[in-house]
Amino acid sequence: MKEQFHTLMNAIESKKAVLGVVGLGYVGLPLAVEMVKQGFTVIGIDLDPSKVESIYQGESYIHDISSEDLKTVMQSGRFQPTTDYSMLRVIDALSICVPTPLSENQDPDTSYIVTVVDQIKLHMKEGMLITLESTTYPGTTEELIEQELEAIGKKVGEDYFLCFSPERVDPSNGRYTTFNTPKVIGGTTEECLKLGAALYSQYVETVVPVSNPKIAEMSKLLENTFRSVNIAFVNEMAMMCDRMGIDIWEVIDAAATKPFGFMPFYPGPGIGGHCIPLDPMYLSWKAKGFRFYSQFIELAQSTNDNMPYYVMNKTATILNEYAKSIRKSNILLLGMAYKPNIADLRESPALEVYELFKEAGANVEYFDPYADTFRDKHGETVSSVEYNPANFKGYDCIVLITNHKDLEYDEIASLGVPILDTRNAFKEYPLPHIYKIGHSVQHPVTLQEEAVFA
Ligand SMILES: NC(=O)c1ccc[n+]([C@@H]2O[C@H](COP(=O)([O-])OP(=O)(O)OC[C@H]3O[C@@H](n4cnc5c(N)ncnc54)[C@H](O)[C@@H]3O)[C@@H](O)[C@H]2O)c1
Repeated sequence: MKEQFHTLMNAIESKKAVLGVVGLGYVGLPLAVEMVKQGFTVIGIDLDPSKVESIYQGESYIHDISSEDLKTVMQSGRFQPTTDYSMLRVIDALSICVPTPLSENQDPDTSYIVTVVDQIKLHMKEGMLITLESTTYPGTTEELIEQELEAIGKKVGEDYFLCFSPERVDPSNGRYTTFNTPKVIGGTTEECLKLGAALYSQYVETVVPVSNPKIAEMSKLLENTFRSVNIAFVNEMAMMCDRMGIDIWEVIDAAATKPFGFMPFYPGPGIGGHCIPLDPMYLSWKAKGFRFYSQFIELAQSTNDNMPYYVMNKTATILNEYAKSIRKSNILLLGMAYKPNIADLRESPALEVYELFKEAGANVEYFDPYADTFRDKHGETVSSVEYNPANFKGYDCIVLITNHKDLEYDEIASLGVPILDTRNAFKEYPLPHIYKIGHSVQHPVTLQEEAVFA
């Protein structure tokens, strides 16, 4: 085994090791691209042939990777995307980046990891390093990989090496990328950790070694539960401020001037993406197995899940100012993505807001410069309307959900259509017809004002 350890270590340090990434999505594709940029040969395995084909064509489907970058990477001849799992036989170090969603019952769905492990069992290369990157509950690396491989006679630290290293990628974050975001890693044995740390040091600026995979798994869940709980807290504060007639946004700005002991979080229409709504549920599910019931996690989840209802009720209050009801009113949602400047609609609270308005009988449409279409809960495709301020005048209310940077805020504000701003994106336009969450409807619209904005 010592020999295999040294062989792999030498291959990593000399960049001769063949690296593999399973799952070429938001996490896996940027990782594979970074590995190639740092001089490695990389095999990317994805079940979706259309993704493999796009990569071959140099057409990126991930916002943070430009097609130019992808073309350069492909021209290097060192990136081979494939759907063929038998390529595992030539991979020295494999990173697993497949989805970890929730099941219908909100329990962890680790079936994607299980599928990958089944393929590893069939095709694994002797002495390979396997690193799980998918976010999951503490114990997964041990239970779903180590024990499974042990069952077919493969011993960790002898026949292969094993680590867990959580992914922290923040799509559209121009400052922190795969390269300069510190990476936590835990190995099953000391040698596993040495190899894992050596590998990731090749293409990540700072590697943070920890004692074992469970610490690494739990650290990721602590980070994301911290966000979920703090967002829920500020969402509750927003609803409190609304009731008390205090502007939460100004309150947060004031509190954020404290140079220590305070970190601003901002309210919104709910939480979205593949991480914050899901990851805490992985933790609370696992904790229940130990008869530990996390009230913080459940409370945060319920507060955040209620935000779309708050947005709808707030819209009803605004329409009431204009003697209108939600039923039969024309509502435009501005932005559907779960965060600004990306097209990702996974778990976006906008989807829930859309359904709530529909159920309440509104004619609801949306505009998103990034997301052209989405599927509603009945499976129907809904398309974004064209950007046309003249047509926007026909809506009874515009609800800003996602504060994309390239929306024409001044033009939209000047239309005079009542706006509910869930992100304080219209901060520069303190007009009476612009309302926001976390603040009461303080400008009862007088008939005179109505005439101005009609
Ligand atoms: N998106 C994020 O911002 C983010 C951030 C940190 C961590 N994570 C975690 O990273 C993991 C991956 O998330 P993502 O956002 O990249 O997901 P994604 O859906 O964008 O990509 C996953 C890819 O895996 C492929 N895939 C699914 N099953 C497969 C299989 N059995 N074999 C090969 N390929 C398979 C899919 O076709 C897809 O291309 C998740 O655990 C997630 O929680 C995501």
